[in-house]
Amino acid sequence: MAFIDAAKLDKKKVLIRLDLNVPLREGVIADDSRIREALPTINHVLKMNGSAILCSHLGKPKGERKPELSLQPVAKRLSELLEKEVNMAPDCVGEEVKGMVKELKPGDCLLLENLRFHSGETKNDKEFSRQLAELGDVFVNDAFGVVHRKHASVVGVVDYAPASYGGFLLKKETGYLRKALQNPDRPFVLIAGGAKVSTKLGVLANLAGKVDRIIVGGAMANTFIKAQGFGTGLSLVEPELQEDALQIMNRARENKVSFYFPVDFVTGRDIEAAKPNGISPYQDIPAQDMMLDIGPASHTLFAEALKDAKTVVWNGPMGAFENPAFSQGSFGMAETVAKVQGTTIIGGGDTDSLVHKSGVHESVSFISTGGGSFLEFMEGKELPGLKALGI
Ligand code: 3PG
Repeated sequence: MAFIDAAKLDKKKVLIRLDLNVPLREGVIADDSRIREALPTINHVLKMNGSAILCSHLGKPKGERKPELSLQPVAKRLSELLEKEVNMAPDCVGEEVKGMVKELKPGDCLLLENLRFHSGETKNDKEFSRQLAELGDVFVNDAFGVVHRKHASVVGVVDYAPASYGGFLLKKETGYLRKALQNPDRPFVLIAGGAKVSTKLGVLANLAGKVDRIIVGGAMANTFIKAQGFGTGLSLVEPELQEDALQIMNRARENKVSFYFPVDFVTGRDIEAAKPNGISPYQDIPAQDMMLDIGPASHTLFAEALKDAKTVVWNGPMGAFENPAFSQGSFGMAETVAKVQGTTIIGGGDTDSLVHKSGVHESVSFISTGGGSFLEFMEGKELPGLKALGI
């Protein structure tokens, strides 16, 4: 199977699975990036004289109809962005929905209600998959954010749809990420940050054999520092992962991968502190402090490791950047990564938001829409949604 540019769409009803799982605050969309990323595929279908039947999940309603997780606000935003009326169906399957789909004319756009209001979605239920598939002549999956989920609208539906394709976002995501994993321009540098080693173990293990350099920052660096026998004060550490941390370092050494750790930290009383207590080298972290950001010497070191990089994959901030007192290291890295003369790939919600806040989002090559799916892709796992499409 292939991507949407190979599909015949004239007068076809096209069922499009999107990831419209946007953050909502009191019913207002806080960030519409995922809706914007869906536009090229929708516009293509409409331009090719097809009608677009859009479907997505929103949050985790666990098979119940939860009004606060209705996709209604998304329909409104889509109408604005597409500059055309996007009607909202009251459900995603059933007779009423079938009736609305039947009425669609080429160029029309309909948004179905939250797929996860039905438990069949997350159970990859056959009957639910069949009911979804029968809404379209063609099925297109453009929801990279859920390709790691074995759900009906991602996997099951492909068994029943007359023809299935990947959308433009899926093409772009898999293109960038596969190139990085399989045939990267070198030097290839992985920047791993964020709070926990546990969520990044798989990525570190997979990439330790593929990259040239690994930079570790954020609270997860604490576990590596502790594993090497240094004090970490009151910082967040995952003691049970110290052995794994050492193994990753050994694996990297065997593969001649250079490992870069922070050499100094901005420390503070806790994550809420109004100001830092100071900057300390990693050998001398004050016993009563937490390590909450990388220090200036670490930034200089990391910038050196990135200077000649040709591929950079970055997941996870360098510190508690939501608090301005501990944000300089993360913002500094965003600026440094943005200056790299090569392919720069950003993954994960926190790093995405950091890069946007720092205003350099247009200077990086690619920001993935995936959270869990990005990590699983980087772990080298087979993703059910891609396997189903054969891409
Ligand atoms: C995401 O926000 O990462 C995707 O929309 C997937 O959502 P999920 O973790 O609820 O499956």
